[in-house]
Amino acid sequence: MTGVVAELRRERHRALARSLGRYRRRALAPRPLNVEGRLSRMVGLTLEARGCEAAVGDRCHIVLAGGHRIDTEVVGFTSEGLLLMPIGDVRGLAPNSRVVPAGRGRQVSIGDDCLGRVYDGTGQALDGGSRLHGETTMALHGRPINPLHRRPIRESLDVGIGAINSLLAVGQGQRLGLFAGSGVGKSVLLGMMTRYTRADVIVVGLIGERGREVNEFITEILGPEGRARAVVVASPADDPPLVRLHGAALATTIAEYFRDRGKRVLLLMDSLTRYAQAQREIGLAIGEPPATRGYPPSVFALLPQLIERAGNADHGGGSITGFYTVLTESEDREDPVAEAARAILDGHVVLSRELAEQGHYPAIDIETSISRAMNAIVTPVQRELARRFRALYATYRQNEDLVTVGAYHRGSDQRVDEAIDMHPKMMNFLRQDLSECVDFEASTAGLEALLGDPNQAPAQTAGAAPGAAP
Ligand SMILES: Nc1ncnc2c1ncn2[C@@H]1O[C@H](COP(=O)(O)OP(=O)(O)OP(=O)(O)O)[C@@H](O)[C@H]1O
Ligand SMILES: [Mg+2]
Repeated sequence: MTGVVAELRRERHRALARSLGRYRRRALAPRPLNVEGRLSRMVGLTLEARGCEAAVGDRCHIVLAGGHRIDTEVVGFTSEGLLLMPIGDVRGLAPNSRVVPAGRGRQVSIGDDCLGRVYDGTGQALDGGSRLHGETTMALHGRPINPLHRRPIRESLDVGIGAINSLLAVGQGQRLGLFAGSGVGKSVLLGMMTRYTRADVIVVGLIGERGREVNEFITEILGPEGRARAVVVASPADDPPLVRLHGAALATTIAEYFRDRGKRVLLLMDSLTRYAQAQREIGLAIGEPPATRGYPPSVFALLPQLIERAGNADHGGGSITGFYTVLTESEDREDPVAEAARAILDGHVVLSRELAEQGHYPAIDIETSISRAMNAIVTPVQRELARRFRALYATYRQNEDLVTVGAYHRGSDQRVDEAIDMHPKMMNFLRQDLSECVDFEASTAGLEALLGDPNQAPAQTAGAAPGAAP
């Protein structure tokens, strides 16, 4: 009798162990993520889907009644469901539309034949050709590079702008900001750089600007000569915010593609402010708290992620030299995006409205502009000449009001006399017509002709200007 009871007990234990094993396998098995859901809510551009599972960054298709599909991306989630943002027009979306997870979407395929082409933020052709494609698949959001493995900035890049080549020399792999208010000449200056820079490939990201400007930039500013070695990614202001973010990421990915092939790439992003505003729209829409002037914290996390992708790589020998335009207004010095960009970038070229109003183009304000890589890439002679130029310029600016009202008497200060004499010639040196290229050799020769050989002339002792080379 006791033997039968013991056998029954053992059998019960075995059954229990079997069911526990089954439950364990079920618990550990990967759960399918492609369960369809339904669209439950739409507020602004934020969509909420229930009943389906997907990870942040994944794509979901929303299938409309007629079979038409709208692409979205998962940007967050709540306890109720997924938060999606559209990548395209949202007209036709209806409650309870089917939401079908479509897996990871942040990959792009690229090939050499994208040169000379114009794409939108999703990689579709805007010039009537085929969509962006190629043999190489790359992550839209880049691959991390160990900062210790990055090649340092050692060589200069000739950008064809005299004032920059001589006084704000740019290094291959440097990231600079182009800070200016609206209508001061950012786009024209970027256009000049696309035509005159001695780079192998130019990638232009036109993010969040007026749609009309895209065509103008391509036909008038870039021209056929500039376009041949350029790739343009345009995502104007009327694109959904997610597409604008993707546009900036796509332009950077294309730049990375060419850098990994050993090319010297010039990446021009117009504008970083609009990029930050796109992320602000998304952050606020999904409930992030506004932190600084309405910008949620994610904006300040995203800016360095984008900018850090430019620069020199760890292998392949290529470089991405980046210019990012940042909108500022003189009365609004505390613009949080400008402040953040200033801290992340390796220098900034400031355009002055005052100079533009005087018809002085490019309206570069030498006093407040700085290239942090300059000392490492130019000769000691150029360094000394640039320091003297800045010192003379600063001296003139400090005394300009006295000179203008006639309160300064010649002979009172030798330094000021020299600064006044030199000022017209220096301003002339900084001016450049938009049809003219001033290469590196011409820029340094012009600076030497203006200020003389520093080994011969007595050293200037004028007060150092901000950013003056030591
Ligand atoms: N180098 C230049 N030579 C002559 N005119 C210029 C030059 N640069 C800019 N301008 C004048 O300034 C105008 C505005 O320039 P641009 O479009 O480049 O400004 P922006 O800073 O890009 O403006 P926005 O902020 O509106 O995009 C041009 O239409 C042109 O008239
Ligand atoms: Mg512009």
